[in-house]
Parts: sequence; structure tokens; C-alpha cells
Amino acid sequence: MTTPTGADRRRGPFAEGDRVQLTDPKGRLHTITLTPGKQFHTHRGHLTHDALIGSPDGSTVTNTAGVEYLALRPLLSDWVMSMPRGAAVVYPKDAGQIVQMADIFPGATVVEAGVGSGALSMSLLRAVGEHGRVLSFERREDFADIARANARDFFGGDHPAWSVSVGDLVEALPGAVDDGGVDRVVLDMLAPWECLDVVSAALAPGGVLICYVATATQLSKVAEAMRDHGTFTEPQAWESLVRGWHLEGLAVRPQHRMHGHTGFLVTTRRLAPGTTPPLRKRRPGKGYVTSEEAGEGDWTPENVGERVPSDKKVRKVRRSVTGTSDPS
Ligand SMILES: C[S@@+](CC[C@H](N)C(=O)[O-])C[C@H]1O[C@@H](n2cnc3c(N)ncnc32)[C@H](O)[C@@H]1O
Repeated sequence: MTTPTGADRRRGPFAEGDRVQLTDPKGRLHTITLTPGKQFHTHRGHLTHDALIGSPDGSTVTNTAGVEYLALRPLLSDWVMSMPRGAAVVYPKDAGQIVQMADIFPGATVVEAGVGSGALSMSLLRAVGEHGRVLSFERREDFADIARANARDFFGGDHPAWSVSVGDLVEALPGAVDDGGVDRVVLDMLAPWECLDVVSAALAPGGVLICYVATATQLSKVAEAMRDHGTFTEPQAWESLVRGWHLEGLAVRPQHRMHGHTGFLVTTRRLAPGTTPPLRKRRPGKGYVTSEEAGEGDWTPENVGERVPSDKKVRKVRRSVTGTSDPS
């Protein structure tokens, strides 16, 4: 049975047109699209696609030089890491966090911008399912074309829940959705703070906004803008670090290399219209100043949250390490 979200393409024996990932004995990956009569060549022999068509997912196949390959259908996480890219993609570890922490649920109406290469869109589409809606906005037509092609390849056709509009979110969103008609908004773009007015109008009360930003300066700016807007709850921010493990005999340890940085996530929720954000229990310290407002003299240890030792404490430590309060 053909399913509109491509579930039928993810199970059963390999068929013509399936994308298959081959892993060689050294762990190198090669992705092929199964085509009757075609051959997969390397500098060490070749194998026919026909040898794989009809075999179960997870089979091995041996080429003419006796090299064995493991054949598996790529998972979504494999797919997004190997598919053609225009813009940088949201990595699977962050896409997983976004789906969970923005509470993307089956049947939800989700707005996304920008689309880039469509990696995150695919995770959102999977989470909303065929009865949800993902309305994606992308400024660049060329990127939107790449994203559409990537998703079409992955799902085996146009996902029924997806629409991609070319245009700037700030201009395009108000005409595309009813006020309060959107459950979740996901922003992966340079300047998400520019979109807060239209996002606030579109989100249903209690709806979630999540932003993925690459730098601490963007994080600071968007968090301050969320606070200043007055229609959102106190923002929450975090990052996730995933460290792979090497598993070989007794050498079971963290891998030496990892992606040390991808981006930061920050979420907030839409307050009911007319509700003002409740006062924070922990008030910002005296001298609190936003990075926007900060002048030269504002970059003090206190304002950046450093614990400043008293002069008395420093004198005491100095005495204890030098034996005198004035060693010079
Ligand atoms: C890093 S990419 C998004 C990658 C995407 N999330 C993925 O996983 O493949 C950021 C995209 O946002 C688009 N963009 C930036 N500001 C925008 C705006 N205001 N409205 C629509 N698209 C925007 C850019 O053109 C760019 O393609």
C-alpha cells in the first residue's frame, strides 16, 4: 500500500528506486539508488543493483573482487547528513531536541522559517504526520527548490502536510495564517527577533516558539527581544552536546572527536492576549542592563554575573599564600 508520508518505502525488501546506503569493510559509506541493470563500481570491483533488489533491508552483498558491503536503507538522520545542501542543516541531535522541547504533536499546525535545505522540515513533517500542517517560509527560491527536492526524495512524493512559500516570514506570515491559528513556530534564521510581532500574532495562547541560533550574541538578542515584547513567557535557553563512544573490545571510551558546537535553542510560550508577563521571582541583579543597552562602563564583573571577592577576602588570601599583606 502506498502511503502519502512514504512509510511503505521504509520497510520490506529493497525495491527499484530505493535509496540504499552501502557500508564497506572500512566503514566508508556509499549511497546508491537501486536501478535494474545498473552497477555500482569502486576501484576494487563492482556489484549489480539487481543483486540487492528483492533482498531484505540489512543484507550483505559481495562485489566481483570479494569485498562485502552491508546494505541498509538510510534513516532520516543519515539522509539529512548526506543530502544535497544549500544552507547549513540543523543536525539530527538538535532536530530531536526541537521536536521534543517545542512539543511538535501529530496534527499540529507548525510554522517554520527559514527552510534552508529542508532538514528540519522533514523532522517536523514526521512529527505532525499526514493530518498536521507545516507551513514553511524561505526567502531564497533556490534554497526552497533544494529543500522541496530533498523532501520529495525522502518521502517518495510531496508530503501532504507541507507547504513551502518563498518570501520573508515577516511579510508572508500575516496573510498565510489566521491570528492565533498556529500551535508552534520554529525559527532557524539569522535574525529571529525581527519576526516576533508576526509570530506573536500567529501563535495560539500557550503556543510554543523555539529559535535555533548559532551564536551567543544572537541568543542574547532574541531572549531580550522576547522579554521586551510583553506577550511571551520568560525564555529558556540551552545547548546540547552529544559525544559518541568508541566500542572496541576493552577500549570502551568517548570518541576523540565530536561536534563541539552546533547551535543554541531558546523557547518561550505565547501568553493569552491582554496578559502581562508575571514578575520574575528572581529579579535581575542591581545594575541589570541588556547587551543592547550596554555602554562601555556597563561591562563590569557584577553585571556579567561574576562573583567579586571582597577586598578583605583578597587581603586574607594574599596573606595566607605570601605570608605578608604587602609582598613587594
Ligand atoms: C540555516 S538556514 C535553515 C536550515 C534549515 N533549518 C535546515 O535544517 O535545513 C537559514 C535560512 O533562513 C532563511 N531566512 C533568513 N531569514 C529569513 C526570513 N526572515 N524569512 C524567511 N527565510 C529566512 C535563509 O535564507 C536561510 O536559507
